[in-house]
Amino acid sequence: MASTIVFFGPPGSGKGTQASRLAVSLGIPQISTGDLLRAHVKGGTELGAIAKPIMESGALVPDELVTRMLKQRLEEPDAKGGALFDGYPRTLAQAESLDGLLAEMGRKVDAVLFIDVPDEPIVERLVKRAEIEGRADDTPDTIRERLRVYREKTAPLAGRYAKAGTLVTIDGNRPVDTVAADVAAAVRRASSR
Ligand code: AP5
Repeated sequence: MASTIVFFGPPGSGKGTQASRLAVSLGIPQISTGDLLRAHVKGGTELGAIAKPIMESGALVPDELVTRMLKQRLEEPDAKGGALFDGYPRTLAQAESLDGLLAEMGRKVDAVLFIDVPDEPIVERLVKRAEIEGRADDTPDTIRERLRVYREKTAPLAGRYAKAGTLVTIDGNRPVDTVAADVAAAVRRASSR
């Protein structure tokens, strides 16, 4: 079974929702750099103090800091058999770092699942989440900036993974269960390659 999977897509596309479901069914961990960074912010660490204002502005935390944090997480015992990356890589430098880290472990990215959702439903979802969860970066201005940063820095990675033959585009603007069925089918196909 494919066990090194990247969830890729704009903010609010459902990467976290789908990755957490797949993590349960495959029995491998979901590694969300956003969740890891929020834990640092909550824990008041040095990294958290650096990351907090950056995250609140909608910009990206510097590659080097995020990759160091990711490497530590990847070295934990539960990630030895595979991992679902949620929100990483987000830049070309991060994609290259991930390839390097995986190669050291004798692994590679098996599949990149691009959860594709237009801007309008994304803004609706995140404004709704702000009302329920109050996430600091779910304000209208920061959502716009996150979408802009995604288009400038992250979206171009799709071409890289398409060239590598690992990119699968999934329409994420449908009910969660429908998207999850396509995610499961894409993972099955990647496993039989
Ligand atoms: P991060 O936490 O990764 O946020 P994000 O990419 O903006 O993604 P979200 O968590 O908002 O959305 P998602 O795609 O996971 O969707 P979700 O399932 O939650 O990053 C936050 C910040 O941290 C960044 O801006 C940056 O500053 C920093 N950061 C993180 N990683 C970094 C990195 N690698 N490098 C540098 N900086 C980094 O769903 C969203 C909402 O929609 C939920 O309410 C959900 O219930 C709902 N929903 C999900 N699916 C559906 C559906 N099919 N239909 C209707 N609603 C749905």
